[in-house]
Amino acid sequence: MDNIDFEQIRLPKHVAIIMDGNGRWAQLRGKHRTFGHKAGADAVRRAVTFARQKGIESLTLFAFSSENWKRPPQEVSVLMDLFFTVLKREVKKLHKHNVRLRIIGDKQGFSEKLQQRINDAEQLTAANTALTLNIAANYGGRWDITQAAKQLAAAVQAGKLSSEAITEEMLANELCLAEQPAPDLLIRTGGEHRVSNFLLWQLAYAEFYFADVLWPDFDEQAFARAIADFSCRERRFGLTSEQVQQAILDTDVTSGE
Ligand code: IPE
Ligand code: IPE
Ligand code: MG
Repeated sequence: MDNIDFEQIRLPKHVAIIMDGNGRWAQLRGKHRTFGHKAGADAVRRAVTFARQKGIESLTLFAFSSENWKRPPQEVSVLMDLFFTVLKREVKKLHKHNVRLRIIGDKQGFSEKLQQRINDAEQLTAANTALTLNIAANYGGRWDITQAAKQLAAAVQAGKLSSEAITEEMLANELCLAEQPAPDLLIRTGGEHRVSNFLLWQLAYAEFYFADVLWPDFDEQAFARAIADFSCRERRFGLTSEQVQQAILDTDVTSGE
């Protein structure tokens, strides 16, 4: 796996990751689940560096779902504190490395202090171009589609849009991540094979990759393995394999290769 030539293989433009398995990682070591969340923060740093160095445009990490509020209050409170301290600690470094940070999710669910910190971090890094790092926090795919629908409904109510004129593209434009390429690779660590209300609309044509590794153990090699797997897949978008192959040949001819 060390000999993957990243210059040669087809890289995903946008990788989305469901970072699962922190709690089990800690429990396997006889520790409290929150110990796993802290170790998970180190794995985040590693994944961000890897994505930036390999030239991936966008990385979207699922950090806290709209359903995770139902966890024991003590765990929720540790996760919020961790989010706050990691933001504080890492933003300058992200900025130095030209990373644009965006938080997607219902920010109103957070404390005023955390919302302020999020706004400051987004503003500071807004013009950066090396990598866009989206952290999904208090995020749910159903919430996202609902908030997009509300925006279109408001435009209809204001007389700026007729309901018959609504298109898929208009709804897509109101969703989180609209200005970025659609995620083309979804990775879920922790061995579960489900989407857990992550980017329901945006993942329509993503390639799914499931890894048994628990998130705190997700390292450069594990990331490289997922990308190598992605690069071998044929993405058909509803076409037949023959059509896809023909389209590749046609592109080669027109690009003079
Ligand atoms: C993912 O790890 C992190 C969050 C959901 C916040 P988990 O905490 O879900 O870990 P497991 O799945 O229980 O091992
Ligand atoms: C998904 O993990 C959410 C995050 C990784 C933030 P969960 O552990 O919450 O998902 P379920 O409950 O196993 O579906
Ligand atoms: Mg989990």
